[in-house]
Formats: sequence, structure tokens, C-alpha cells
Amino acid sequence: MVLEVHNLHKQFKGKEILRGVDLTVGAGEVVVIIGPSGSGKTTLLRSLNFLEHADRGQLQLKDQQIDLAKPTKQQVQWVRRHTAMVFQNYNLFKNKTALQNIAEGLIYGQGMARQKAEGVARAALDKLGLADQADAYPAELSGGQQQRIGIARATVLHPEVILFDEPTSALDPELVGTVLNDMQALAKQGQPMVVVTHQMWFARNVASRVVFFADGRVVEEGAPADLFAHPKEERTRHFLNSLAENY
Ligand SMILES: Nc1ncnc2c1ncn2[C@@H]1O[C@H](COP(=O)(O)OP(=O)(O)OP(=O)(O)O)[C@@H](O)[C@H]1O
Ligand SMILES: [Mg+2]
Repeated sequence: MVLEVHNLHKQFKGKEILRGVDLTVGAGEVVVIIGPSGSGKTTLLRSLNFLEHADRGQLQLKDQQIDLAKPTKQQVQWVRRHTAMVFQNYNLFKNKTALQNIAEGLIYGQGMARQKAEGVARAALDKLGLADQADAYPAELSGGQQQRIGIARATVLHPEVILFDEPTSALDPELVGTVLNDMQALAKQGQPMVVVTHQMWFARNVASRVVFFADGRVVEEGAPADLFAHPKEERTRHFLNSLAENY
């Protein structure tokens, strides 16, 4: 396993938001998390790299076993160094160019020399067909371009796992496909990823495994074909039916 989470709990103001989450990601796996709004999906991803502090839970990332409630400073650094997150709202540095945004993590996170890091960033932009945007600032880029830069920024770090939190939900519909294409290409390269999304096309066609998450826990999970065609739990059926009505 690349990543294993066991019995993750998290409260906000006395209200239990995560209620004993278990989640695994194997080598080369794309785990897609679907589930209703407010069920705790973002909180789950944020708890995995200490953007939120869990009340309880174990994380195994590669060969490191970490108590999520009581991590050492070194463990927090280690986890942040070996994971990357892609956010709904891109979170690019506004005062840095596309190229600098991609190079930044290599320089400050991994200690790479600036010139080398910028070479890696330029190659990543080339590969995505975004070479002509290298010197553009985020405000000069479309949402789709910004998110593709956000994904490139995560990818060049070669993290053990990339955590995506609704990467396309802020985009105009015609830009969604460009971002999903990048993610699909990344999946094909064997990059382990966890993807929270409402894009059922992606869940059906790219996921190795789909996890249905509701009320702070994993309700059921399975291969996409099984989970969509034969959900075992009433809660899952109800959610999938509500989607069918909306799309
Ligand atoms: N910092 C916070 N302080 C207090 N409550 C919070 C905080 N962050 C999240 N919550 C609450 O935790 C619950 C789960 O929120 P979360 O954002 O994880 O849900 P989600 O499944 O990602 O929803 P969505 O699909 O709308 O993004 C919500 O009730 C939310 O109001
Ligand atoms: Mg969310």
C-alpha cells in the first residue's frame, strides 16, 4: 500500500465530522471519492496532510506509521514532502508566473537549485502544451489553465500520492475536459491519487476504485462498474439516484 488511513476521527466545535474513516490507496491506484455535500470529504483530505489536525487516527504512508493526532514535527514535514494537494480554487501564488508556481515546490520543498527547477517546470509546461503561458501570472490565465498549472505543480514533485479536492468544480463546463485529461494522463503514468469529484465520467472511466462517503465515513467502495450498477447500501442507491435526477 502507498497510503493507509485507519480510524480517522475529527470534530469541529464538538460535532463529529469524520467518524472513523478507513481508506487505502495501492500502487498506481486512482481512488475516487464521491458523496454528498457537507459529508466531510474536504476535511478528510485536509486531515491527511495536517491542514487539519485529526483527533484520532493512524496514517501509514509508504513505510512510515504516523499517529495523526500526535505527529512529530518531522512526521508532518515528511508527509507534506511526500504528498501534494490540488485545490478547487487552484491556490496558485498570484504574484508568481506559471513557471515560478511550478518551480516553487522544487526549490523550497526539495531544495533543488532554481535554474534546474525552472528547467523541470518548463519541460512540464511543454508537455502540457502550455509553454507559451510560462511567463503569465494567474490573473492572466483561464481557470482551466490555472488548474492545469496547479496539477503540474503537484506532479513535478513526484509525490507518493496526490490529493485532489474537486479540481474541476470551479471551472466553466467547457474547461472541465482539459483538466480531466491531464488527470487521466497522470493516472495512466501510474501516479497514485485520491480524487474527490462530482464528475461521474471520471469516476466511471478512470477510477481503480470508487469510495462512497457520507456522514463522515466510508459507506461502501468497489470497482466503478460494480458500485454504480450494484450499490449494496440504501444510502449509496439514494445518492446515485439523486445524481441521475440532476444530470
Ligand atoms: N474549519 C471548520 N470549522 C467548523 N466546521 C467546519 C470547518 N470545516 C468544515 N466544517 C464542517 O464540517 C462539515 C464537513 O465539511 P467538508 O467541507 O469536509 O464537507 P465536504 O464533503 O467537502 O462538502 P462539499 O461537497 O460541499 O465540498 C461541514 O458541516 C462543515 O460545515
Ligand atoms: Mg469539499
